Amino acid sequence: MIGIFDSGIGGVTVFKEILKSLPNYQYLYYSDSINNPYGDKNNEELISITREIVKYLIKRGAKIIVIACNTASAICKDDLRIEFDIPIIAIEPAIKLAYDLSYDKKTLVLATKGTLESNKFRELYQKYNNYNMTIYECVGLADLIEKNEEDKINEYLINNIKKFRGVNNVVLGCTHYPIIKDKIKSALGQVDFYDGSLGVVKQLKKVIIANNLEETKLDIKFIDSSNSKIKEDRFYEILKED
Ligand code: DGL
Repeated sequence: MIGIFDSGIGGVTVFKEILKSLPNYQYLYYSDSINNPYGDKNNEELISITREIVKYLIKRGAKIIVIACNTASAICKDDLRIEFDIPIIAIEPAIKLAYDLSYDKKTLVLATKGTLESNKFRELYQKYNNYNMTIYECVGLADLIEKNEEDKINEYLINNIKKFRGVNNVVLGCTHYPIIKDKIKSALGQVDFYDGSLGVVKQLKKVIIANNLEETKLDIKFIDSSNSKIKEDRFYEILKED
């Protein structure tokens, strides 16, 4: 079984990519909506929250963990990997992908405070900065997406994102943001999107082969830390889109 978690339903954007490539596995998705947003938590608090989630997923039978959250990955992955002896795959903002595929273009990176202030992000930025890159901290945006507040999301994009019109690439450095790709496009015009989910899939495939963890049957289970039926419905709704 593969255990996946995020601070809510954002990680479903990663899970969708995983399912396309690995359809015959058992999955347990943990939506930690009670602790949403992760982006504003301090490091100690977030490490202790995610530690409990990983323990829980292992107890339920997970043999691999996917951190489908850029913030938790950036802040917690090293500690979790030291503490637990099963493979832990972590997403990261796809700055390298944008750099490799579109070096000479203007790139806008959107992410949470937690991600942008992390050492992991600083390292990534130093390595793959094309000197044509704008970093923007989207305070509160993941929360609005989590709560599905359409009007407020549109207002947010007009007030905060529209000013970046003219960029060519947008790195979606939070797993909630791909849910509103169309809205971001309306604010920015034609842009190419990059997110870290393909990197996760690549890693996951490697880990499965290296650890002989192949499976043969699909099963999807969803659990939400605030027991929200609304989250569960939304999870399956987003999963079925496209
Ligand atoms: N979806 C998460 C991420 O990728 C975090 C959003 C939040 O809870 O702040 O960063």
